[in-house]
Amino acid sequence: MTNFSAIYKLSLVAVVCFIKACSSSSCPVLECWLVQEKTGRGGGLAAATSQEKSLLHIRTDRHTAEPQQAPSNIHADRVYFISDPAATLCHRSLNPPRGSVEKPQCEINPFLPQPSTLKWVAPLTDSASSPINLQADWFSTALQGLNGQLAISTITRAPTATKEHDVILSVTTKTVSVQARLGEPVLLDCGFWVDPSSPLSGSGFAVEWRYQFRGDGRLVLAYDGKTDRLADVQEEGATLDFEGLHQEGNASLILLEAKVRHSGMYICTVYLPYLVAQVALELEIVEPPSLSIHPSPLPLAVPGRNLTVQCEASGFAPLSLELSWEFKGTDGKSRPLGSGSVTGHRQAWDGTYSQSTRLELDTTKLDLSPGGEVTCVAVHLGGTRRASVTLNVIGLSTPSIEDSMAMVGVALVLYGLIKFVSWTCTSSGSDEAGQQDKKEK
Ligand SMILES: *[C@@H]1O[C@H](CO)[C@@H](O)[C@H](O)[C@H]1NC(C)=O
Ligand SMILES: *[C@@H]1O[C@H](CO)[C@@H](O)[C@H](O)[C@H]1NC(C)=O
Repeated sequence: MTNFSAIYKLSLVAVVCFIKACSSSSCPVLECWLVQEKTGRGGGLAAATSQEKSLLHIRTDRHTAEPQQAPSNIHADRVYFISDPAATLCHRSLNPPRGSVEKPQCEINPFLPQPSTLKWVAPLTDSASSPINLQADWFSTALQGLNGQLAISTITRAPTATKEHDVILSVTTKTVSVQARLGEPVLLDCGFWVDPSSPLSGSGFAVEWRYQFRGDGRLVLAYDGKTDRLADVQEEGATLDFEGLHQEGNASLILLEAKVRHSGMYICTVYLPYLVAQVALELEIVEPPSLSIHPSPLPLAVPGRNLTVQCEASGFAPLSLELSWEFKGTDGKSRPLGSGSVTGHRQAWDGTYSQSTRLELDTTKLDLSPGGEVTCVAVHLGGTRRASVTLNVIGLSTPSIEDSMAMVGVALVLYGLIKFVSWTCTSSGSDEAGQQDKKEK
């Protein structure tokens, strides 16, 4: 028994160690482009920028020792140590396995803390004097995880001329690209974390969601966290989870009912006094079409005469749709009938599209007899949809042996029936005639 518990304890210790080793080693060393304005070359028309490779050692604890070996292609001055107690930057999508071709994207820029004049942000910097804490080196870093799993933007601070940065603000989204069906509620994930030990924390925050589509931008919602007030809502049915916002920094945007016009890019911006960070997300409303075939049912097809079938796809978004026809004969084999003549699209009041295709069925040319199933196929981002009608072609079909036998049988029965009827008729007819003859006599 004691042996058993000892083994049990040992294995538990081993597991705990393993987990600890895994979690501490999961904070990445990130290659990052340091982009900044070129110094000493003023007078140019466009603001010239320089791009240098840098290396970010991420850790959750400021005191963790790190191996300080910089790769030869990175200048030692461009190696930074970033403490992120919330471990946001230790997400696995930022830490690909060694030798992986795909790398997370990273860009780091110098950042200048400054008050904002936006109506819902300005109250954060009401007190005129800016804190002494601002006098430091500030950087803004934008990161994209692998496979679009994650986007993070951080604001970090380092005592002037040091390379030991602390994350002060990070804004994260786990839904970089969202697809939603029409009419469904949509959640656009956005969360933020503020270093509780920073003097900038605890004096309020503001959240702003903006929408952007083809260069056209507008405000969706603005929230002043200092006075706990929605400063502006310009999109009906857009809201935040206010409890989650204050308790866990959950700034996710909720759209109660997805509409086609909601497709586009959303930018979640979080403001602290003097600081700002933002992440962008893409929302696409994807609704597959509903199909209907006219006429339905199809009239009997007469060989030599064309039969026109129409298929209407409606209520779909986005616009791109591929319409085609298929025929499945009695042998169970399907073959394509082409796309027919596809019409231009129309847009309905709710932003969804409709489009139709017309097919001329040439019942002689194509081997369609004695019939089968005609199917309209619509391939769309939201899924493939099909609608079928039964096609019956009359005549010209060579009957099978069973059919012939049956026909002979039917003919025989009919013949017998006619014979019988005509016999009873003539016999009764002659009787009546005979009786009438008698009366007349
Ligand atoms: C944020 O809030 C939304 C809405 O209440 C919720 O569905 C979501 O799970 C929350 N996200 C996190 C990370 O807690
Ligand atoms: C039948 O349809 C084919 C195309 O499928 C067309 O070429 C032909 O002219 C049509 N025939 C008649 C009688 O309309």
